[in-house]
Amino acid sequence: MRKKLLLGNWKMNKTVSEAKDFALQTAELVKFAEEHNVLVGVAPTYLCLDAVKNNVSGMIVAAQNCHFEDNGAFTGEVSIPMLKDLGINWCLIGNSERRTYDNETNEKCNKKIVKLVHNDMVPVYCCGETLAQFEAGETKNVVESQIREGLANLCEKCISKVVVAYEPVWSIGTGKNASKEIAEDICKFIRDILRDMYGNAADEVLILYGGSVKPDNIQAYLSQENVDGALVGGASLKIDSYEAMLHNLVK
Ligand code: PGA
Repeated sequence: MRKKLLLGNWKMNKTVSEAKDFALQTAELVKFAEEHNVLVGVAPTYLCLDAVKNNVSGMIVAAQNCHFEDNGAFTGEVSIPMLKDLGINWCLIGNSERRTYDNETNEKCNKKIVKLVHNDMVPVYCCGETLAQFEAGETKNVVESQIREGLANLCEKCISKVVVAYEPVWSIGTGKNASKEIAEDICKFIRDILRDMYGNAADEVLILYGGSVKPDNIQAYLSQENVDGALVGGASLKIDSYEAMLHNLVK
């Protein structure tokens, strides 16, 4: 049986002291999550990873990106061995903001994902269509190429370690969340593609919904068969709303 996962994406928010402050308030939340068999985590900026890691226990701490090379002349980048050395084992890949502003292609995401998996790390691969693509009825075509190209070259055993997040771009940070039916339809579609690519290991893959998830709508998504959790931006920044999402998720 697949576990549930609540993962906060802090994006470019929080100073090191603010991140530490949040981490220091997580003890109750982690206890509740453990009691209910839910995985919880946050993805802070690189600068805050160490502070969060050292002040929480029982929470996943994920990076928001990584480079696919181990080292070299790549100003401003951070590599997988650098993250591993900090004890970071999870990493977001291909968030729509990175696809939009940093030219993150499916091919580039794939290089990172293959490298992460070979380093025993968990990639959280984000996919999803833009508003124009949604309105043109292209959602499934777009998502299918993102999945087939971004998650190519893995083995059956490796794929079960990958987490996928379906985040329609038009719903991110806009308050216009996709309906639970759309979320289920696309998450199931993703699982079917993974089954076609990697066989029954697809049943072990955690597939999250993301885009304007809040305490009052999280339960509707999580009640869907193929939605195993949520990737949450804005509503994960405050401990109160993070906690409220966790409580509503298990209802
Ligand atoms: P949001 O962001 O919850 O603020 O819409 C989601 C994301 O980009 O992961």
